[in-house]
Amino acid sequence: MVTLRSVIVGAGSYLPERTLTNAELATMVDTTDDWIVQRTGIRERHIAADGELTSDLGIKAARAALADAGLAPHDIDLIVCATSTPDNTFPATAVSIQSGLGITAGFAFDLQAVCSGFVYGLGTVDGLLRTGLAKRALLIGAETFSRILDWTDRTTCVLFGDGAGAVVIEAQEQPGAMTDRGILTTHLRSDGRHKMKLYVDGGPSSTQTVGHLRMEGKEVFKHAVSMITDVIKDAFRATGYTARDLDWFVPHQANRRIIDGSVIKLGLDPAKVIITVDKHGNTSAASIPLALCAGIADGRIKKGDLVMFEAMGGGFTWGASLVRM
Ligand code: ACO
Repeated sequence: MVTLRSVIVGAGSYLPERTLTNAELATMVDTTDDWIVQRTGIRERHIAADGELTSDLGIKAARAALADAGLAPHDIDLIVCATSTPDNTFPATAVSIQSGLGITAGFAFDLQAVCSGFVYGLGTVDGLLRTGLAKRALLIGAETFSRILDWTDRTTCVLFGDGAGAVVIEAQEQPGAMTDRGILTTHLRSDGRHKMKLYVDGGPSSTQTVGHLRMEGKEVFKHAVSMITDVIKDAFRATGYTARDLDWFVPHQANRRIIDGSVIKLGLDPAKVIITVDKHGNTSAASIPLALCAGIADGRIKKGDLVMFEAMGGGFTWGASLVRM
């Protein structure tokens, strides 16, 4: 039976020019390259320039995704920007990206699910495309976490970076089988009981300030692997696929040890895992599309490949999406 599927037809990314190495961080807080590499796998991250906004990063990633898809801005009728570091409290960063691209039709909004934003975005865009509310979407993960870090707190400031990644997703008729191209299944979860384990200590209605990121790192670590693997197993159950069927695993890039723990628990082949956390740090909602673009750019991820995306982040929120490219 013919089915409308949401197919990724282009991807693009952008990283700010400036990189910040662990050695430089060691001159700012009491830390070492060894400690950061051993505990997280991170070696460097990119930091947005003064005046470079989340929307600026998002626009560059979106342009690259459109070029990859061979499409023009006016071909897009939906923009979803997953971000926790918007330019302003409102309007949505997505509408700034919309105007930056010169798009005046369709609709644009932000999605806030912290590090799970891109996977939540895949589920949201899939729903909107399949119900006919839009035909072709830009899903962007864009973040400037450097702006909400406490640069005197060594337990958090070493972990994050800035960047943006985008995909163009198009509604296409497919045969209606698990061999279809497109988003095959998405599973999203949240549990607000954990909301104070990873949060920002400010906001319009509480402090009228932006605030800084605070985290109980051990608590996040303790829950991460089981939450991620649970939701991936849901995606396997829904499609009949198993770990052996995956061509690529594109996880949220928070911490190398969380990724390795998930890979072992799921019995995945480590050679099929895309890793960028060493070069990007944790770019929150941008990390998955940045990793996807890295895998496409060097020829590993190809059209027709079966790819598992997963993320877990503040809230806690978590989710997984199984996509045939
Ligand atoms: N450099 C040197 N020492 C440090 C640093 C640092 N940057 N940060 C903390 N330490 C010290 C601590 O003060 C502590 O010292 P003490 O023993 O004298 O008290 C020691 O290192 C151990 O600290 P722990 O917090 O126990 O270190 P742990 O092994 O748990 O590693 C880490 C910390 C890396 C944050 C880990 O808990 C983790 O990876 N948690 C997951 C957090 C994460 O990935 N968050 C991202 C956002 S959520 C997401 O995207 C999934």
